[in-house]
Amino acid sequence: MILKLISKIFILGAILLLPVLISCKKDDSKPLSALQLRGKGSYMANCSACHNPDPRLVGSVGPDVAGSSLELITTRVIHQSYPPGYKPKRQSGLMPALPFLENDLPAIHAYLNSFVK
Ligand code: HEC
Repeated sequence: MILKLISKIFILGAILLLPVLISCKKDDSKPLSALQLRGKGSYMANCSACHNPDPRLVGSVGPDVAGSSLELITTRVIHQSYPPGYKPKRQSGLMPALPFLENDLPAIHAYLNSFVK
């Protein structure tokens, strides 16, 4: 009898909690494409030590980079420079060139531009 009551309370509690749990799920991003996922992996491995693991936010030493154009990413990562007329967010010079990542740049670009504004 008492066991039945306890299990009923349990089930009721679970039912009441379910919508709360579902609404807690962060749903501010679309599912990533294969290219974007590859870019996310490369970003996490090669960039997130300095830039924030969430590219929309400022990182430990690097600025936010979500929404960066392919031209900006390419000039910065490969040539350690900027597109003509671009005003850099920071001037510390701490970011080295990472030319071995050339093949990853379209994927990184796709990932950095996957965020819903
Ligand atoms: C060693 C730390 C470090 C690593 C690793 C790093 N960055 Fe940076 N990044 C910086 C810093 C610091 C800046 C700001 C410019 C400066 O001071 O050199 C920057 C600037 C940038 C900018 C220009 C931002 C702007 O709008 O001015 C882009 C784009 C960028 N990084 C992308 C990347 C990507 C993509 C990777 C990984 C492939 C990466 N960075 C890896 C530290 C780093």
